Amino acid sequence: MKIGIHKKVGSYSDRWIEYCKENNIDYKIVNAYDSNIVEQLVDCDIFMWHHHHANYRDALFAKQLLNSLETAGKKVFPDFKTDWHFDDKLGQKYLFEALGIQAAPSYAFYDKKSAKKWIDSTTFPKVFKLRGGAGSANVQLAKSKKDAVKFVNKCFSRGFSQFDGIRNFKERIKHYRNSKDTLFGVFKGFGRMFIKTEFAKMHPKEKGYAYFQEFIPNDGYDIRIEIVEDKAIALIRKARKNDFRASGGHMDYFNHEYITPDVIKFAFDVYDKLSMQSCAMDLVRNNIDGKLYVVEVCYCYGVDDDEFDHGYWDRDGNLHNEKFNGLDLMIESVIKN
Ligand SMILES: Nc1ncnc2c1ncn2[C@@H]1O[C@H](COP(=O)(O)OP(=O)(O)O)[C@@H](O)[C@H]1O
Ligand SMILES: [Mg+2]
Repeated sequence: MKIGIHKKVGSYSDRWIEYCKENNIDYKIVNAYDSNIVEQLVDCDIFMWHHHHANYRDALFAKQLLNSLETAGKKVFPDFKTDWHFDDKLGQKYLFEALGIQAAPSYAFYDKKSAKKWIDSTTFPKVFKLRGGAGSANVQLAKSKKDAVKFVNKCFSRGFSQFDGIRNFKERIKHYRNSKDTLFGVFKGFGRMFIKTEFAKMHPKEKGYAYFQEFIPNDGYDIRIEIVEDKAIALIRKARKNDFRASGGHMDYFNHEYITPDVIKFAFDVYDKLSMQSCAMDLVRNNIDGKLYVVEVCYCYGVDDDEFDHGYWDRDGNLHNEKFNGLDLMIESVIKN
């Protein structure tokens, strides 16, 4: 058995390669961007690629490559069910509805007229999102009908760039004030208002659809769960000051008391329904009905230095105070299956 790994420094491949070395697993480094990538993988049974939503090249063809190899009988990570809706909240709307997953009710429109008709008949606030993006970068509150109309007009005219330099700069200043970013980071953010990221230059504008979610009233935190097979990491992410958004705010806490048995049960139920190899999910608890709602799911997640130092939960809701490595679980699970 041989594993082909697309190597990118700073991605999961760092750990996957180490894991293969430590466990004497036959592996080969391949380059997914080469036109002959399929040929490079001829002698491999498994292909693993931690592709990233903010790399325009990955966004262009990672899913297509992985799905082609899977169709041809290779084991891949991430596989089709894990990956097709990655960085695609619009796709996830239909997925959650089809699977009966309790998620924030959502509304999608593909023309201006129907979007405006809905705006006239609904209540506010609503959450407005682009289908892609992370760290709350493309998530905003439509507090009123006026806000919603403004968003919709832009959706069906010049569209949205997935990277907004001004919003990014403001965010970096806020983070700097809260000691979550450096002065250098703020300068970089300033420069980014003029020099676009490669992704922003190459990625087409987001337009032709408008996507809203029902705002789920909550106590100012998300529950983030990361599952592979039978192990779940759980943490709390607090919302930014005077803001409803937690993702990207860097206020993560491993407060185990928030991780009640119903959270673990709900998360594993969702994970099983989705049939994903690895799943990070954002949940919010509605502080009116007390129920948990899925906000979004993702096959990968940012790994902090202490990510795997706080123990894990099993399917029965027991907390195991043991160190482990979630990235190892991904490779172990691919080999085992
Ligand atoms: N429907 C919602 N109701 C309440 N809060 C939400 C809702 N959707 C998103 N949020 C908040 O906004 C943050 C960012 O939204 P999310 O969809 O997770 O986008 P991202 O991909 O940028 O993480 C979440 O972490 C959550 O705190
Ligand atoms: Mg999120």
